[in-house]
Amino acid sequence: MLYLDNAATTPVRPEVLAAMAPFLGRAFGNPSSHHTVGEEALAALEDARSRVARVLGMRAGDVVFTSGGTEANNLAVKGILLASGRSHLVTTPVEHESILRSADYLQRLHGVAVTYIPVDTYGRATPDAVAAALREDTALVSLGHANNEIGTVQDIAAIAAVTREAGVPLHVDAVQSAGWLPLTGLGADALSLAGHKLGAPKGTGVLAVRGRVPLEPLLHGGGQERGRRSGTQDVAGAVGFAVALELAESERVAASDHLTAVRDRFIAGVLDAVPQATLTGHPSERLPGTASFTFAGVSGEAVLLELERRGIISSSGSACAAGSDEPSHVLVALGIAPEIAQTSVRFTFGRTPVPDDLAAHVAAAVAAVTGV
Ligand SMILES: Cc1ncc(COP(=O)(O)O)c(C=O)c1O
Repeated sequence: MLYLDNAATTPVRPEVLAAMAPFLGRAFGNPSSHHTVGEEALAALEDARSRVARVLGMRAGDVVFTSGGTEANNLAVKGILLASGRSHLVTTPVEHESILRSADYLQRLHGVAVTYIPVDTYGRATPDAVAAALREDTALVSLGHANNEIGTVQDIAAIAAVTREAGVPLHVDAVQSAGWLPLTGLGADALSLAGHKLGAPKGTGVLAVRGRVPLEPLLHGGGQERGRRSGTQDVAGAVGFAVALELAESERVAASDHLTAVRDRFIAGVLDAVPQATLTGHPSERLPGTASFTFAGVSGEAVLLELERRGIISSSGSACAAGSDEPSHVLVALGIAPEIAQTSVRFTFGRTPVPDDLAAHVAAAVAAVTGV
């Protein structure tokens, strides 16, 4: 089996599992307990926090451990908006559902106005569009670094220059880019990450938010995570997250260069062999491992099934959209007709080696489905 759905999730790396194991067994303490068992857990938790902060170029105190990317995004968007006393949010229509549904919630229940800035046919927002959307009462700009369905990468540094000038915090959903693109020097005030895209377990994540940005907690209770996220921390998960992030960062440049070459060879092969194939997303400003297409006239779901029958696991877009009859909101926002959007197939490469003749297998699957 060839697993090409790494944007959905990845397996836990053996080094990560080994680093976590003591904190699931022998060193099981509650980091808030004032005895030696608790202190050992607290030391591991704080060490993990410092290591995450170092990779992100933030302070240890900025790092809030969460249950994943969805919680990090909810905490960023709702927490920063609600703490700001302001009532305007800027985002784009191609964000992950955890951003879009949080924006909906703020609009419905807190009277927040939301501006969705337009994106081009590749899914990119320009700094000028961000500047034009800002208002006196803008509390936050929230943007994805790299899109989970089409892989397009936003020019965050240029957009951050605009938000900094305006004094508006910038939140960046880096769930897909972490481990593949540099995260330091982006100029973001808050970053969301998810462990399971990086070789750490599902249900682990981080919101790193610079200390100067006030944050209203979503979870109330014992005041853990400096009051920003109550609940006894998942020490093993935090340790695993830190190890996975460090490993990914140490391998990042070589792994990204390698995957970019694999991806480009694969994209060229598919476009060459499948006449109805169109690449979705930006041709070069895209995640190293993401190759996404529409195959006009073919059912995306039928291609997925045929590929799986032939041992290739791919997806129709985001994991949550898979199996739904609705066309992807991302593809529709790019101006792609709904009936074409329904023919989309996404291949996301990771650490698994890929055969040279992969594009030919994909072409054969499309041909089988079209009956050509
Ligand atoms: C861009 C992006 N943001 C957020 C998430 C949500 O992360 P999690 O699965 O950890 O809740 C995902 C997961 O697919 C994602 O791709």
